[in-house]
Amino acid sequence: EKGGYDHFMLKEIYEQPTAIRETLSRNLDDNGRVHLQETVQLTKEDFEKINKIVIVACGTAYHAGLVGRYVIEKLARIPVEVDIASEFRYRDPFVDEHTLFIAISQSGETADTLEAMREAKRKGARVLSVVNVVGSTVARESDDVFYTQAGPEIAVASTKAYTTQLVCMYLLALFFADLNVAISAEEYDNFVQDLEAISGKLEDVLKMAPEIEALANRLYDRDQVFYIGRGVDSSVAYEGSLKLKEISYINSFAIAAGELKHGTIALMEPRTIVWALATQERLFDKMVSNIQEVKARNAHIISLAQEGNSEIEAHSDEVFYIPRTKDELTPLLSVVPLQLYAYYVAKAKGCEIDKPRNLAKSVTVE
Ligand code: M6R
Repeated sequence: EKGGYDHFMLKEIYEQPTAIRETLSRNLDDNGRVHLQETVQLTKEDFEKINKIVIVACGTAYHAGLVGRYVIEKLARIPVEVDIASEFRYRDPFVDEHTLFIAISQSGETADTLEAMREAKRKGARVLSVVNVVGSTVARESDDVFYTQAGPEIAVASTKAYTTQLVCMYLLALFFADLNVAISAEEYDNFVQDLEAISGKLEDVLKMAPEIEALANRLYDRDQVFYIGRGVDSSVAYEGSLKLKEISYINSFAIAAGELKHGTIALMEPRTIVWALATQERLFDKMVSNIQEVKARNAHIISLAQEGNSEIEAHSDEVFYIPRTKDELTPLLSVVPLQLYAYYVAKAKGCEIDKPRNLAKSVTVE
């Protein structure tokens, strides 16, 4: 049932190009326009009542929400907040009938996400959920359900659910941008084209696996790993860090690169590994400065950049390149080397990858 792979996690990593294609084709029409699946009923009139969006989730799904905030605000020009479900539900948040509440959950059974959603409903919000499991509790209790087409995800560490959640965020951003008349026809078409080209590029990223495995086999015994980035790279940094800690039990930490010098840089030592995500063209020079800061403390730097930005090699111990795409879309590509790194480090350490200690696939207690 693992289809020839050693673990479900690896199988699911490799299923991502297909899962992304499925999620796109369910929600795009023949003219390349977003046409959301019939379980999303939200109309232009409904949307006109909305003055803000609140995205709530836990764990990996929360990390998808962080990217969602970035792209929805950028494309649709509507304010978006993102919160962790266990925080949102106890803080008496500003939510009313003008709020669109978006819950993101692979399982659709996460207790905190469900309760946060019920709280938002009580306050009058319209609830749209991005869910993988058909007929799950979150799906049943939502006004609109946007299903990710990831297929069953068995490994505790979420991979293809995350990338399909990201696809839903991009599709929602385009859908809202259109309703809000915030995007030109040309920008819209261009974004859709780049989105459709992503799964092919992801197939190229997967070809890096042997190199990443070799790197993991060299560095698996390090006990401190940092992930830094700016813009959407900071959100991907959180996800990369979570993947590594949950399956390899290595102490890892993610931080927005600009925050380093406000405290965390004190932890840098020669044996520290830093994954420096530098895929944002707009912020590339800023990231190079951050990399130089950590390099000066003799940390081991593994950089990730878009093809063509080879000047980063002068400041890094290793560099991996992702195919070129829009800054907003890089998370779909850049997360994959981080998933593979976590996987191969855990494998080198002999960890139980699909069922890590202390964790359950769906967290139905708070
Ligand atoms: O089923 P959900 O998406 O609601 O689950 C949320 C988190 O429990 C989940 O993403 C968790 O963080 C994963 N183990 C991460 O790989």
